[in-house]
Amino acid sequence: MNFILKSLSGWSAEEAAALDTLLDNRHVPLPQAASVSEWEALRPSLLETFETNVYGRKLPRPDEVIFTDITPRMYGAFMAGHAVRRRVEVKAKRNGLEASFPFELAIPANADAPVPVFVCLNFDPGVLNAYQPTEEIIDNGFATAGFCAPDVVSDDGDFTNGLAPLYYGPDDLAEDGYPKAADAAGKIGLWALAASLVLDYLETVPQIDASKAAVIGHSRMGKTALWAGVLDPRFFAVISNDSGCGGASISRGKRGETIGKITTRFPYWFCRNYQRFADHESEAPFDQHMLLALIAPRLLLVGSAERDLWADPEAEELSLYAASKVYALYRRADADRPLFHYHLRHGDHYLSRHDWHVYMDFLKDH
Ligand code: GCU
Repeated sequence: MNFILKSLSGWSAEEAAALDTLLDNRHVPLPQAASVSEWEALRPSLLETFETNVYGRKLPRPDEVIFTDITPRMYGAFMAGHAVRRRVEVKAKRNGLEASFPFELAIPANADAPVPVFVCLNFDPGVLNAYQPTEEIIDNGFATAGFCAPDVVSDDGDFTNGLAPLYYGPDDLAEDGYPKAADAAGKIGLWALAASLVLDYLETVPQIDASKAAVIGHSRMGKTALWAGVLDPRFFAVISNDSGCGGASISRGKRGETIGKITTRFPYWFCRNYQRFADHESEAPFDQHMLLALIAPRLLLVGSAERDLWADPEAEELSLYAASKVYALYRRADADRPLFHYHLRHGDHYLSRHDWHVYMDFLKDH
């Protein structure tokens, strides 16, 4: 059975006209840039808009970061000898404090040349988990490096654990436990920093081609993958799977989850300022297609699932369509190789093997 309903890197004139009408009806503000130089002149203020109003300020790098190989001896030959599994501890130091988190790598054992790599933002520890079909990834010639988000900092309103105290001391936290400053980074910002630290390590691994690193995440980690990709231009590709509200989906006219709903249940993922746009989407000086456009001209993949109405597949496609107007400015000589891709899969909210194969097939062409 073919699970993929749509797989595209462009829209027909008819589809584009229908999507343009939707953008108009929802009053989605489009970046006013007619050339790469005009767009690049706009870019810094747009990035600042997202830092101030959505995810919070980019966190400075720790003063010192130490990587230690902590691979248990029992890992030995992995996947019948096809892969090497490694566990690494990242110790970060800042303001006289330190914090650490582990991540795990799986690297094809017998590659002839350095391999591309996925930086996987995971919900579970280790290289074996429901959203990461590691054996298939290895068989397709990619390495993976993944951390478990709560190992970096807890997925809740507590800013006193993991990497958080390196950035927020007791005086920086308000009575509700969140950073006082309305533009201070929330949990997505802290996880995005961890993705960059993992990439620092990958740059030192001879078997890995870190210039071909794709950051990938599902759902809340898809939102994080987008933000990590925007903040760290070393990511060659950015992959958002079912990231929905506060991720790939346009907020104006969005169905399912809205800014009001997400900032009520998960305020701590974002900065406080984001709450100001609850039920006031149309007043926001941004919408999520601008976040996608900030990734241009690097590779951008957006995946949706048909029954994932909470994330709203239509809002995800519309957003990529609007961002594609910025990608079009960068049309290159090798334009036969598209820079972005959208797919819609049958089924529910999940990062499935079908999604992975779409992503891997696309990346193999680059
Ligand atoms: C909730 C939340 C979503 C998020 C999802 C997830 O459903 O409302 O915004 O994407 O959790 O991360 O699984």
